[in-house]
Amino acid sequence: MKEQLQKIYDAAKADLQKANSISDIEDVKLKYLSRKGELNSIKKNLKDLSDEDKRIVGAFANEVANNLETEVKAKYDEFYKKELDEKLKKEKIDVTLSGKYVQMGHVHPITQTINEITDIFHTLGFSVAPDKHSPEVETEYFNFDMLNFPQDHPAKDMQDTFYTTVAPHVLLRSQTSGAQVRTMADTKPPIRIIAPGRVYRNENINSRKNNFFHQIEGLYIDKNVTMADLKGVMNEFLRLYFGASRPTRFRSSFFPFTEPSVEIDVECIMCKGKGCRTCSGTGWLEILGAGMVDVNVLKDSNIDPEVYTGFAFGMGVERLAMLKYAIDDIRLFFSNDERFLNQF
Ligand code: PHE
Repeated sequence: MKEQLQKIYDAAKADLQKANSISDIEDVKLKYLSRKGELNSIKKNLKDLSDEDKRIVGAFANEVANNLETEVKAKYDEFYKKELDEKLKKEKIDVTLSGKYVQMGHVHPITQTINEITDIFHTLGFSVAPDKHSPEVETEYFNFDMLNFPQDHPAKDMQDTFYTTVAPHVLLRSQTSGAQVRTMADTKPPIRIIAPGRVYRNENINSRKNNFFHQIEGLYIDKNVTMADLKGVMNEFLRLYFGASRPTRFRSSFFPFTEPSVEIDVECIMCKGKGCRTCSGTGWLEILGAGMVDVNVLKDSNIDPEVYTGFAFGMGVERLAMLKYAIDDIRLFFSNDERFLNQF
């Protein structure tokens, strides 16, 4: 048996000598040293020997296995180093090559517009109301009732407002004006806030209308606030956003929660005359509703109308962006077309 072992050892050494790559060396290891390898199958026959022979042959078998293992390892390390060196030489990185272009996302034009308008109102002394004062899922109470809407007002109708099924009287807000009421509920005047956010209306979608869009609500309440303040703040905002040369106009209007009420139009720059689909050929686009906070609204919110007065406004963010960048279709903002988005 000892001779047999010596033969295996010699054969293994010869194979190892011939080995020319890491994978050859692994083959040698598998053939001689693995559990099913040749050395192990010899060891299985040890049990047939006398005790004396068992000791001698067993010791020799272990010696052969240990030696072979050391030799295999030495050759493996040598080849590993060699192959690694070759690889490093071959795969040298050319640091002068130009990099791969990684496309980065950027802020959506609507968010950019909201940020720009928010910055303007910061300079005018307004701060952004906390999110809790301006939830997108709102109750009829804050979206309508506390804003002096009569119970049978058509805007409350299912045809204009999306009602949820989570509970009765819970809706997707149709305007950001609920933020006025929620702010007055836990803030003492003076109040000077804006509240930007998304609103929802059950509209037929076309180039001018989408069934969700964005508004920025504003509320200013203090002693001696007058219509002149409203006009001054709105004109200053328009000047800062559009520049001094852009024609704008005030029109009288009606909202249940302001009295008197106005709307502000901005001259349409998409207008190619009669057929303009954005302004229906009128030359003007409405961007904003505003007015002096109605006495009933102040009273309902426990603000004394004999001491305090104020104004509120709500502007359409998409309209403002369209009029600044000459975009003639509101749907472009929400279609995720990179050719459009990459222009901002
Ligand atoms: N909430 C009104 C709308 O959506 C706009 C508005 C806000 C008007 C505040 C007056 C005061 O049309």
